[in-house]
Amino acid sequence: MRIDVVTIFPDYLKVLDLSLVGRAADRGTLDLHVHDLRDHAHDRHRTVDDTPLGGGAGMVMKPDVWGEALDDVLAVDAPAERRQVLIIPTPSGEVFTQRTAEDLAGADSLVLACGRYEGIDTRVPEHYASRGIEVRELSIGDYVLNGGEAAAVVMIEAIARLLPGVLGNPESLVEESHGAAGLLEYPVYTRPTRWRDLEVDPVLLSGDHARIARTRRDQAIARTVSRRPDMIANLDAAHLDREDRAMLATMGWAVPVGAGRPVPVRIRAATDSDAEALADLAARTFPDACEHVIAPEFIAKHVTTNLVPGLFRTWAADDRVDLVVAELLAPLPSSQASSGTEPIGASAGPDLVGYAAVLREEPDAAGELPRGIDPRPACVQSRHGQVVGELSKVYIDSSMRGSGLTPALMSTVMQQAAGHGVNLFWLGTHVTNKRAQKAYKRAGFRQAGTRTYNVGGQDAHDVVMIRRTGEGL
Ligand code: ADE
Repeated sequence: MRIDVVTIFPDYLKVLDLSLVGRAADRGTLDLHVHDLRDHAHDRHRTVDDTPLGGGAGMVMKPDVWGEALDDVLAVDAPAERRQVLIIPTPSGEVFTQRTAEDLAGADSLVLACGRYEGIDTRVPEHYASRGIEVRELSIGDYVLNGGEAAAVVMIEAIARLLPGVLGNPESLVEESHGAAGLLEYPVYTRPTRWRDLEVDPVLLSGDHARIARTRRDQAIARTVSRRPDMIANLDAAHLDREDRAMLATMGWAVPVGAGRPVPVRIRAATDSDAEALADLAARTFPDACEHVIAPEFIAKHVTTNLVPGLFRTWAADDRVDLVVAELLAPLPSSQASSGTEPIGASAGPDLVGYAAVLREEPDAAGELPRGIDPRPACVQSRHGQVVGELSKVYIDSSMRGSGLTPALMSTVMQQAAGHGVNLFWLGTHVTNKRAQKAYKRAGFRQAGTRTYNVGGQDAHDVVMIRRTGEGL
């Protein structure tokens, strides 16, 4: 690739003789030429600027001087198949990104015109564009430098390292920040493994490549969520696997069904004022758990008798109940919103799309267990000192299935309950609900037996699953 730079400070570009770019120039991968703009100024003072027409502060670079310089450097009659780009670094340009660097690395030659002062007369880019030259006015970020030279160095380095043969190890390009994954790069470490009391994650020393890759991906997601939420909002959902989604959901981003991008959510403890929205959500989601196996009238009876605002209000006030909700922080695009359940403008409450509860089996002063707790099935045997909690359960709005919220809610509520002493969790789920059983298995539950459960007057057959803490919670 040939690169020409036109500037009033040719020495500024000397840094490009160093390092990888310098070596690429020595080897001929890069053919770099730096030109002094003042060679094209013909007055005694070699003037390159003048006052702005219409008044105002500063000086503007003269079009006649730039025109002569660029006519000299640009191959105006180059064959069409040779791609030549005139780049003008300017804070008012479009933002130069890794995508821009990748695109420009495909050109045959680049000419960078470095302005100073208030910039170059606007007719210069207009003129060359009208002569069929590809002109790009580019900014390296939202701040103002004294001139285009530092920006030109930045762009040349970013472009040159993408040229074949410039980097010693082209693998380095694969996983870096701003690559195809759309995430920042994961944190990196080298020996010594312990430095000033700081240790590296032992997974990195395990030699288990799949686990290392998963850990790094989770770290890349975590880092991007905290530093560049704008990048998370632009992630392509098609490239997010189940574990990515679970990690994102724990960190406040979930991918709705059919959506191309994650949306912000908050997983938090429920409060008294969530009670109405929770009852609505329960009425929408409970039937999913036993549809087709329990008659609709029994489901309806169960919902209207048990899953009422009063239940959720009692749970929110009971410290033996850990109740966690997932709240959407931005409205879903209308095609993803669950259909027709809410008249337009009717709901002023939180937009809840999931909840999970753990009910601790502990009598209160009156000897009563938490409201709504199920009798513990005989197959759930607690040893001495074990504190039992019923996971009752994880319900997700149909618009958020597969969004990562199920594992995120489950781990949040179980960690919270474990913090309140629960170390043996159990749950019952309908025998035909294989999807739920799979999700609980992934969360570390295993089948302990079965139970019969009464839904609104009809008996249902449930699988009972258990999980003890200390089993990797
Ligand atoms: N010249 C001055 N500031 C600049 C910026 N942010 N990007 C590119 N060129 C510039």
